[in-house]
Amino acid sequence: MDLQALRSEIEAEIAAAASLEALEAVRVAALGRKGRVTELVKSLGRLPPEERPKYGRLYNELKETLEQRIAERRKELEAKALEERLARERLDVTLPARERPQGRLHPVSQVSEEIVAIFADMGFSVAEGPDVEDDWHNFEALNIPPEHPARQMQDTFYLSSRDAKGQPLLLRTHTSPVQIRTMRAGKPPFRIIALGRVYRRDYDMTHTPMFHQVEGLVVDRRTHMGHLKGCLQDFVRAFFERDDIPVRFRPSYFPFTEPSAEMDIGCRRGKDELVVGEGSDWLEILGCGMVHPKVLEAVGLDPEIWQGFAFGMGVDRVAMLKYGIPDLRTFFEADLRWLRHYGFLPLEVPTSWGGLSR
Ligand code: PHE
Repeated sequence: MDLQALRSEIEAEIAAAASLEALEAVRVAALGRKGRVTELVKSLGRLPPEERPKYGRLYNELKETLEQRIAERRKELEAKALEERLARERLDVTLPARERPQGRLHPVSQVSEEIVAIFADMGFSVAEGPDVEDDWHNFEALNIPPEHPARQMQDTFYLSSRDAKGQPLLLRTHTSPVQIRTMRAGKPPFRIIALGRVYRRDYDMTHTPMFHQVEGLVVDRRTHMGHLKGCLQDFVRAFFERDDIPVRFRPSYFPFTEPSAEMDIGCRRGKDELVVGEGSDWLEILGCGMVHPKVLEAVGLDPEIWQGFAFGMGVDRVAMLKYGIPDLRTFFEADLRWLRHYGFLPLEVPTSWGGLSR
């Protein structure tokens, strides 16, 4: 028997085995219980005793060599199988780099969120009312009777439908009716702001027929003018993100507050610019005052027990001031180029601790 030839033949079979199953078949055929090499070892007993050690060693060498080759080939095949499996089960967990978000938040949305963030920190909650109001909420309960000149001050859009009293419905001319709705719906103390659309017949650089206001209302047993001043001063300083903004309160008139005031902030007017927070000029920024006793009475609160302050401010107006937008009419033209320029990234939510307007 030519051992050399047998060895070469089996080694060739091992090398040719293309899978672990095929290799196992080669191993069984050579080294299994009835394998060719096993048979050789078994046949040792039939050899003359003096030849047995020599052939025993040769057969063992052959067996060990083949076992080693098989082990090596198994390693190769296992590595190959693993690679194939990895390739087959490959998952691409990478993502293409994200583009900067394309959409932008409108300055009115941004500024509204900034205002809510500041007042929320001061303990205010957000109240709401309808855009379509009735005469009682928008005027009468606010101490603006039918013959009152304030009704001409605000050029009202009236609707053709009427309320239960036969009065025409209207588009609210300010957010102050939300004061009335809030006080009618709940129990004092109150500390709310109300943001929303208001409507007046007006159209130029700084007036549009629809614009936005934020109303504030605080009612408690001991609320006084000092609270109003401190609250609004803190607000403008937080909003314009400057601690040194000068403020002043000028006497004014609103039917629903007594006394009434307008708040100005310091500013500097250059040739083509307006800088808020410094300089020797003043800029009117909001109306405010102590809630009129007649308003408290209209909602069933005893003015001997409850008192408070209210304020109203133009949201678009402070957006124009803070972000240097010159023409209010552009707010509502839905021009994407304008929005790309003046808009805000939607994921950067304003908070007073994280920064209002990074
Ligand atoms: N409602 C007033 C306006 O639209 C603003 C205001 C609100 C004034 C609350 C005083 C108190 O002009």
